[in-house]
Amino acid sequence: MPHPDPHTAASSDTEWQRTFVACWMQLGPETKEAIVGLLPDDWSFAGKRVLDFGSGPGRTLKEFVPEAQTGEFWGIDIDAASVDQLRATLCPPMHAARCGYSPPLDFEPGSFDLVWAISVFTHLTDNSIPWLLELHRVLKPGGFLIANYMGRWISELVAGEPWDDTRIGMNVFRHTHPWSEGGPLVLISDWWLREHWGRAFEVVDIAPRIHNSSWALLRKRDVSLTADDVARPGDDRREYQAVRHNLARAQREIEGAEARLAAAQRDAAEQLAAVRRSYEDSQSWRLTRPLREITRRVRARRTAARDSSDDVT
Ligand SMILES: C[S@@+](CC[C@H](N)C(=O)[O-])C[C@H]1O[C@@H](n2cnc3c(N)ncnc32)[C@H](O)[C@@H]1O
Repeated sequence: MPHPDPHTAASSDTEWQRTFVACWMQLGPETKEAIVGLLPDDWSFAGKRVLDFGSGPGRTLKEFVPEAQTGEFWGIDIDAASVDQLRATLCPPMHAARCGYSPPLDFEPGSFDLVWAISVFTHLTDNSIPWLLELHRVLKPGGFLIANYMGRWISELVAGEPWDDTRIGMNVFRHTHPWSEGGPLVLISDWWLREHWGRAFEVVDIAPRIHNSSWALLRKRDVSLTADDVARPGDDRREYQAVRHNLARAQREIEGAEARLAAAQRDAAEQLAAVRRSYEDSQSWRLTRPLREITRRVRARRTAARDSSDDVT
């Protein structure tokens, strides 16, 4: 899938994106507050290894520079420009690496005490559960994952429909949208997260509304699961309704995309016809008309001669 992400400073090039990024970057202190607020009261970063998965250029990591004097902090992202910016501005004390679209990460199992993924699972689609399991793998036994997800607070805005958790499990909207237009969007219901993510992690806490998303504090369970194990539907009948709703939505999106494609093809054909008309009206086209007529006749004769020799053989 193409990246960069529009939400990262390194890759924003329209006025709207620049404004959005400027506001987004200012939310760093609140993001730190949200992370620390979710962690247990006796949590300390001293001596800990921490991973910011999908860190972008370091909006959150830059708030943890004091803690990075005694702990080891890593930022990982798929977007090369973001990783470059992170390296240039915050490393050291931070560490940075780039990852691919899908796992694995270049870390041993059990490498981290804490992983957070802020506004990342809000966009991951087919690679979402594989990444969830990869973060599970790189966490130490009992390690924490903090991840936020979009749902009730933002459904109207991003999906254009009222929130209704009887039809949302993990639903993907705008799957093929380019990142320059906001990328794919994923809505997740609390019940779905508890059912599916809860197989790999104990759901310790869900902070209901921070920056219009829900934030989950999860503790690694001592289990070994495949992506299928996590994805498999549970008994809740909302599983089926959510799949149906996602299918209907995908069909509407396909219809919209096809209509846009047909309109673009019509536009292109009209433009081509206009170019052709202006070319054919041009003086040189009119002057060379006899020449083209001769060429056409010669070709026709050659074809006829070849056809008749084919008949003889
Ligand atoms: C909305 S931005 C959030 C950035 C950062 N976490 C923050 O809160 O400022 C989503 C980030 O996820 C990154 N991302 C998207 N797909 C990824 C993947 N497969 N692996 C790692 N990072 C990914 C994007 O490049 C982008 O930096």
